[in-house]
Amino acid sequence: QKRLTPNDITALKGERPVVSLTAYTTPMARLFDPHCDLLLVGDSLGMVLYGMDTTVGVTVEMMIAHGQAVMRGVNRACVIVDLPFGSYQESKEQAFRTAARIMKETGCDGVKLEGGEEMAETVAFLVSRGVPVFGHVGLMPQQVNTSGGYRSKGHTDKEADKIRRDARAIDEAGAFAMVIEGTVEPLAREITGAVSAATIGIGASPACDGQVLVSDDMLGLFNDFRPRFVKHFAELADVISRAAEDYATEVRARTFPGPEHTFQVRPKK
Ligand code: KIV
Ligand code: NA
Repeated sequence: QKRLTPNDITALKGERPVVSLTAYTTPMARLFDPHCDLLLVGDSLGMVLYGMDTTVGVTVEMMIAHGQAVMRGVNRACVIVDLPFGSYQESKEQAFRTAARIMKETGCDGVKLEGGEEMAETVAFLVSRGVPVFGHVGLMPQQVNTSGGYRSKGHTDKEADKIRRDARAIDEAGAFAMVIEGTVEPLAREITGAVSAATIGIGASPACDGQVLVSDDMLGLFNDFRPRFVKHFAELADVISRAAEDYATEVRARTFPGPEHTFQVRPKK
């Protein structure tokens, strides 16, 4: 079975919504693959898997290990891996080197990077050299230390103008799609109408060409904080803590393991 390509994702624009989730491990990728067009190995893994406070500490090695894990679980979805903080902002050459390494070592279909006007030259450099680029504008978590925290964007004319220019710039540079994160609805709608890339919203209204959520958020597994845009489609944290509690109770009562879990010596012939 052939997987969806970045071009296939762009072609869905105006046809039907693009369904995307983050994935970090083989078993989760296997479960999501039949339902998703695109799986993003997001640097959100630093927070949801590794307990970091922000995504700033995530390394290329971490992204490669999880990218490889996800690729082992996928038959159909397009797989994009995030370039982590510090692995691409220095120069377009650094960005290409990192992107090429990640694509070679994981077999993924392209990379995602955060940024607008300041990254447009880098996006064009990568795309013209064979790296499909997924952009990311609006709220950019890798810039949390300079942008004043995790606040929604586009409330003032000045901020909206900047995001509009960012989106246009990476669209013109050839991004096949772009995440719009934490951005007010009218602006997300306007950008979606103005760019040829597929816009994938997270906290950016139903007007986008598709949606993405952090899987641990939507599964109710990561509950350290819950942005307004997260919907819990399950409450896995409750399911897991109940399972751990039941296990502990049975071990203490010696009711687990039962006879059906226990090996006896086979009778001699
Ligand atoms: O790292 C991530 O999970 C992301 C998505 C929220 C778009 O960048
Ligand atoms: Na990310």
